[in-house]
Amino acid sequence: MTVPLIGRIGALVIATTAFYTYVGQMVPQKEVQPPAEVVVKGDLSTADMAKIGREIMEGKGLCLTCHTIGKSGALRFPDLAGVDGRAKSREPGLSDIEYFAQAMYEPNANIVPGFNPGMPTINKPPIGLNDREILCVIAYLQSLGGTPTVTLQTKHQYNAGAATPSQGASPGGTQPQTPLTGEKR
Ligand code: HEC
Repeated sequence: MTVPLIGRIGALVIATTAFYTYVGQMVPQKEVQPPAEVVVKGDLSTADMAKIGREIMEGKGLCLTCHTIGKSGALRFPDLAGVDGRAKSREPGLSDIEYFAQAMYEPNANIVPGFNPGMPTINKPPIGLNDREILCVIAYLQSLGGTPTVTLQTKHQYNAGAATPSQGASPGGTQPQTPLTGEKR
């Protein structure tokens, strides 16, 4: 063969480029489906809320991309099994509901011992759950080691104006109840 060196180098370059292009194509292009939309509307029993809360945690809440439920060992994120049992005593003066609300609305206000900060603010984008969805998640969290007591009317320090999220809510939660008409998001 008398292919000049430059030709051989050129061929090698082309072959290498083609090879990596081919490998690049082989890498599965994972199609990211938007998580199933769960709409919390109307009134719901606490049991229904817990069920929806679980779906939200698997879906758009993205909770279970970080958290496990029932895994032990060296974990990067707190395992949530039995979390309601711990929630009541995590912070003096905070009920489990208040503690869970704080964990989601203001995740860095209190860091679980042994873990690093890193939990996103759940009511802000990109996760951006609304107040009602977060109440459902709280219902499910309560079911982990406890009995859910939360309802869609439950007020906590972050939703003291639950029907009108993102408005300057006055703490205390004494606003009149707004009728529950299928709020959409
Ligand atoms: C990016 C990873 C990540 C995501 C997503 C995430 N968390 Fe967390 N979460 C953490 C980390 C890290 C901690 C521990 C540090 C802290 O206390 O903020 C934590 C702590 C918690 C705690 C406190 C646990 C305890 O033992 O006291 C709760 C409850 C919790 N997360 C619930 C949730 C829920 C519900 C969602 C979804 C709506 C969620 N997390 C989404 C990372 C995450």
